[in-house]
Amino acid sequence: MAGRIPQHFIDDLLARINIVDVIDGRVKLKRAGKNYSGLCPFHKEKSPSFSVSPDKQFYYCFGCGAGGNALGFLMEYDRLNFPEAVEELAKLAGIDVPREEGRNQDPQREQQLKRQFEALEQASSFFQQQLRQSSERERAVNYLKQRGLSGQIAAAFEIGYAPPGWDNLLTHFNAVDNATELLEQSGMVIHNEEKDSHYDRFRDRIMFPIRDVRGRVLGFGGRVLGDEKPKYLNSPETPTFHKGRELYGLYEARKHSNQLDRLLIVEGYMDVVSLAQHGIHWSVATLGTATTAQHLERLFKLVPEVIFCFDGDQAGRTAALRALHTTLPVIKDGQEARFLFLPDGEDPDTLVRKEGETAFGQRVTQALPLSEFFFKSLTEEADLSSMDGRARFSNTALPLIQSMQPGLLKQMMMDRICEITGLSLEQLSSVIDLHQVTQPNNPPPAAVEQYTPAPPRYEEPSGPDSYSTAAPRRKQQSRHLVNQAISILLHQPNLAAQAPKSAEFTLVDEPNISVLIHLLEYLQDTPGSSLGTLLVDWQDDEARRADLMLLNEISHLDPVLGDTNAAHLLQETLNRILARRQEALMDQLLKKSRQSPLTEEEKQTLRQLVLNQHS
Ligand code: UTP
Ligand code: MN
Repeated sequence: MAGRIPQHFIDDLLARINIVDVIDGRVKLKRAGKNYSGLCPFHKEKSPSFSVSPDKQFYYCFGCGAGGNALGFLMEYDRLNFPEAVEELAKLAGIDVPREEGRNQDPQREQQLKRQFEALEQASSFFQQQLRQSSERERAVNYLKQRGLSGQIAAAFEIGYAPPGWDNLLTHFNAVDNATELLEQSGMVIHNEEKDSHYDRFRDRIMFPIRDVRGRVLGFGGRVLGDEKPKYLNSPETPTFHKGRELYGLYEARKHSNQLDRLLIVEGYMDVVSLAQHGIHWSVATLGTATTAQHLERLFKLVPEVIFCFDGDQAGRTAALRALHTTLPVIKDGQEARFLFLPDGEDPDTLVRKEGETAFGQRVTQALPLSEFFFKSLTEEADLSSMDGRARFSNTALPLIQSMQPGLLKQMMMDRICEITGLSLEQLSSVIDLHQVTQPNNPPPAAVEQYTPAPPRYEEPSGPDSYSTAAPRRKQQSRHLVNQAISILLHQPNLAAQAPKSAEFTLVDEPNISVLIHLLEYLQDTPGSSLGTLLVDWQDDEARRADLMLLNEISHLDPVLGDTNAAHLLQETLNRILARRQEALMDQLLKKSRQSPLTEEEKQTLRQLVLNQHS
């Protein structure tokens, strides 16, 4: 599969196929006006919020925010990488994928990797087969049984057995060219320099294959059947296997359900397998390392919630603090991390076996949210009765909060610090340099210019004839102003009350203006409205669904602003939009006056506009 796919081919391919055909075979779609809707395949839901737009050749889920074109859909749904998705799409269109000779690709290396993956896959099959055929199979099978695993769950995780002996795997691969070298590179055999001979790394161990998200075997964990040391042996790091990146059980969890809404992070292979044995198919294990930011980023792409699981002892608490530090800079609004502490001496495996799925699940629901764990662990050691103690507390807490992404969670945690210390933000800033923690309170008017979110991806490019050619740059910027106003309202819907009435915007001729009008109208005229009610109401409203799509798109683009900042910025932005409208109207009337006399009413308007401009 070497060679780059030419971009023009991808463009042509996308233009040729219809996204509805691609998705329809995989998700049951029903026509809904111009679009199609169905149950979202990427999260659990009872009523359809998954929408496919044939016009825009785009899919979107109002529930979970998943969205993209046909290629993106195939990548997500069929778990393909980009070239694979292109191949699949081309197959549907009945055409072949051309390949360019790329400069950066190294066909030899690609070939090598491919052979390595094949070797690991083959090793995995061998270990599984040994669980049935080895002369020692009884010991191995009994061990698994004694640990409470059924044949079915062992098969689901493709658990195997490396029999005793120094060269079982080597011998198995004997027939293949260069097999020894390949096995050595994959970490399966070890080279004895002195004797210049090779031997199997894994001997007399239960074998847990570690797969990447696509299901390719990257390496193994191997457990002894007794109490020998080391208890677990893992494949070494190789060019394809990085312990700080991979998670045991992630492939299996996704295979079990592609609508995961949370994942439990545990410590051991056996924890993952044992939880699955008891019906909890949504756990993953780090590979003998602490959870890394890379792990978390990967998980948060798949689910909005992760729950860390720790032993109740001191080591567990230390590990939890470490996980907290790793999570703070990674977590974003809309995501949740929680901390679960198990009773001393238990791990998820022993506990779920003792208590069963329901009781264990109950514990998970009671896990501490990140912010609670944060303040609990920090206030436990602090003496908040003295000014000194409060300063010390702030000194520990603030830099941690400073490391967080801007957003509501960060802001809430700042507020909480003020609450706990009884200090205002200003007072706190004398304790520590707060510049990066809070948003500047005096927004320079220039912020309006700087702040220009990109237009939503799927918006059709404006053709040269759709706008007057007079001021394309200004139009471009106005479009951003409208999006900007929408974005602020999305983050702080309560500001709509102070905004000009929606009716004032009706004559503004800008892209997306109707969405802004509808949003203002809804927020201003619907008592008790919020984004939550809007979501529900608009989803049911045929006429508003397209608006909703745009709102969602815009909401993903933007930073959250501080309170003072937002009110000011919204006012400024709306004023600018209205000013643009007046300018445009004035231009139009002046132009018309050169061609034909204006009506009395038009003259009146023009006079008013000119006056406004000078006031
Ligand atoms: P634990 O020592 O907590 O073992 O190691 P466990 O998961 O409870 O194992 P069982 O239940 O006795 O089978 C947790 C994880 O730490 C890594 C492994 O990834 C293991 O799953 N580990 C542990 C090693 O890599 N090597 C070891 O020798 C021990
Ligand atoms: Mn254990």
